[in-house]
Order: sequence, then structure tokens, then C-alpha cells
Amino acid sequence: MHDALLSWYSAAGRHDLPWRRTRDPWAVLVSELMLQQTQVPRVLAIHQKLLAAFPTPAACAAAPVGEVVRAWAGLGYNRRAVNLHRSAVAVVERHGGHLPDTLDDLLTLPGIGPYTARAVLAFAFEKPVCPLDVNTARPLARAFGVGGQAAADALVPVDDAWRWNQALMDLGALVCTRRAPSCDVCPLADVCRWRLGGGPDPAAPAGRQSRFDGSDRQGRGRLVDALRDAPVVAGELAAVMGWADDPGRAARVAATLVADGLADRRADGTFTLPD
Ligand code: ADE
Repeated sequence: MHDALLSWYSAAGRHDLPWRRTRDPWAVLVSELMLQQTQVPRVLAIHQKLLAAFPTPAACAAAPVGEVVRAWAGLGYNRRAVNLHRSAVAVVERHGGHLPDTLDDLLTLPGIGPYTARAVLAFAFEKPVCPLDVNTARPLARAFGVGGQAAADALVPVDDAWRWNQALMDLGALVCTRRAPSCDVCPLADVCRWRLGGGPDPAAPAGRQSRFDGSDRQGRGRLVDALRDAPVVAGELAAVMGWADDPGRAARVAATLVADGLADRRADGTFTLPD
């Protein structure tokens, strides 16, 4: 089963993804934070520019957090940029500017959860742990009935941890997809419990799509997008956020950006990116 998946990866994997051509833990961390909630093509568009701007934890920590938010343009979920900066500061202060290589140390970094910590361990340090996200968890659950973190970690081949995890990632993204899996080309089809048990349920409900239009998140994104260009004065706030008829909502939601460290509010009420 290991051989089947690894051979498939050699033949059909996405070997040209730039974050697969490095073992630099910082580059892996930056890439994984970008990839968490953003599709690969969007990440590819700015990946190189972001790493060129912040090539090391020290370079990132030395920059104003607003610079990191500005460089994050196009990716959305801007809180990740604040967390990246906070993690860089913590790595400089606590680890001499080098990312730690243990799960416990990585988990103490701001915004770094079980997935990201294991992704750094697996993809930079080549350790035998499994970063569980939707794409890696799906084939494990379907093929082997593996649900938990411990079981997923235990399946990783010790000598080939890096390739195993990249292979799982690609299998979940390209073949073992949520709604219309391509079992005919799957290297695990012969052993897949889910397929042997009947496979895709034609009546499976589609995932719930969250509504973005009209959401607080939409207003937050609009304000950060505007702040990347210039400060926003109080009188323009509601219009910039798309809620010209509801300045109270604009003020409330803008305050959440300040609380999250994504914006500053000057004494005169003008909003800016944080220093
Ligand atoms: N390789 C490592 N992590 C990845 C991810 N999150 N998406 C695609 N390829 C990856």
C-alpha cells in the first residue's frame, strides 16, 4: 500500500509546486499558512514575492506588521498575515531566529495549530507525522478507515515521510475528491474500504456554502484592501466597507479589525494599517 501510493506520486504528483523544492522551514511555514485557506493558483501568484520580501523570520519580524498585511494582498483571511508576523517575532525572541523542530515548540507559535505544526515537521524536517487537512484526511478515512491523528501519524513510513505526505495531499486534491472521486485511477482502489463498501453515495449532500456577500468578513476585507493603498478617514469608513447606510455596523466591524491587530485607529478616527 505504501509502494502503491508512492509510485503513483512519482508518476502523477505535482512536483513543480515551489514549496516542494525547498526544505527551508520558514519557507514551508509561509507556504502552508498561505495554502490553508487559499487555492493553489492564487498562492502561486504571490508566493515568490512574499518570500522575497520576508526571506527569514528575522526579516519578517523586523518589518512593520502592516507591511506583511500589505504583501498578503490577494490571499484573503488577512489575520494569517498578522499571525505570520507574530510567529516571526516569537521565533526571533525564543529560538534565535530558527524555526523549532518539535511539535510542542511549534504549537506555541501564534496561529500555528496541529496542521501547520505537523506540515513544518513533515515538509521541512521530513519527520514521520501526518498533517491532517481535508485533502490528507479524506483518502485516509476512505481507504483505511483512519480517522484520528495518532492513527494517521502511525501510518507514515519513517523513511519516506516527506513523499508519503505529499502523495496523500495530491491523492486527496486530484483523485480522491469529495464529490466525484476518480477511483479508476486511484492507486489504493484495490484496498479501499470505502470503495469496496459501495463508494460514493449519490445522495451525499453538498457541503454548505458560506455566504460571503453581505457578511462582516466582506466588509473587513474591503477595509483592509483600502488600507493597503491609503488611510481611511472616519467619514469614509462606512462607504469603503460597502455599508454606506449602516455606519454603526461599519464602526463595530472596523473595531474587530483593530482588536485583531489588522488595523490601527488614530485619535482623529482615521484607520491605517498597523505599524
Ligand atoms: N504540499 C505541501 N503542502 C501542500 C498544500 N497545503 N497544498 C498543496 N501542496 C502541498
